[in-house]
Amino acid sequence: MIFFRGVSKTFGRHAVLDDLDLHIERGKITFIIGKSGEGKSVTLKHIIGLMRPDAGTVIVDGVDLGSLGEGELLALRKNFGVLFQQAALFDHLNVFENVLFPLEEQGAGLSRALREQRAEEVLALINMLSVRDKYPGELSTGEKKRVGLARALSSKPAVLLYDEPTTGMDPLVSEMIDKLIVEVNAHDPQMTSVVISHDLKAAMATAERIIMLYKGRGILSGSPQEFRNSSDPVVRQFFAGRVEGPMEFF
Ligand SMILES: Nc1ncnc2c1ncn2[C@@H]1O[C@H](COP(=O)(O)OP(=O)(O)OP(=O)(O)O)[C@@H](O)[C@H]1O
Ligand SMILES: [Mg+2]
Repeated sequence: MIFFRGVSKTFGRHAVLDDLDLHIERGKITFIIGKSGEGKSVTLKHIIGLMRPDAGTVIVDGVDLGSLGEGELLALRKNFGVLFQQAALFDHLNVFENVLFPLEEQGAGLSRALREQRAEEVLALINMLSVRDKYPGELSTGEKKRVGLARALSSKPAVLLYDEPTTGMDPLVSEMIDKLIVEVNAHDPQMTSVVISHDLKAAMATAERIIMLYKGRGILSGSPQEFRNSSDPVVRQFFAGRVEGPMEFF
């Protein structure tokens, strides 16, 4: 579904992505893991063409993003549901209107009544119907994330990208969100989910494939089992620090 071939991205003198190759398979849940500042969010922004590489190519569903203009990129982004790291809700819209927004924008061939029904369905799914009339400024961080998730899901995109969906949440809500990611992905065999995380434990429990970023490259790409069995020293270090030590980084 998604290929990076030799992708490099430098900010000033800081090479964040350095000749990065990666492959994200259709229909699976792939976790991209790595420490803070390793370029996970930058990678996500390349997948949707919000950032363009200095060198290399990003191919999504057979299309080289480098060959697309802004208008074509906008059209392509309609296939993606994105939960940004900071939730990025529209502050002037209430919860219900936020979730309705992608459906209205894309029309999706649905009547107003059906769009509203769909928005209610996804809010019910994340247990947030009771706050449908609140504005983002009135929500907790965790609630904002859940509304962001509902908004990403509402138009039933082919690819869901989650940037740190559970960071800063209590363990119960984190677990609920991890379960939701699995449920949503299982619902449609073609659905591709990409979860960016520094939580190795969640990756081991939820991912079908894991890609680990280190110094701008993907140092290992494989199943949770392959990660567990890997003798790569950086992977082993990550395990030692994350699984047996403190889980959170912030
Ligand atoms: N627009 C930008 N301009 C300049 N530098 C940037 C920009 N975006 C990201 N960077 C730099 O690129 C590096 C990687 O950032 P990125 O946000 O991808 O990290 P991350 O792996 O998502 O970290 P975290 O786990 O903290 O979210 C950082 O050093 C950051 O400062
Ligand atoms: Mg990030």
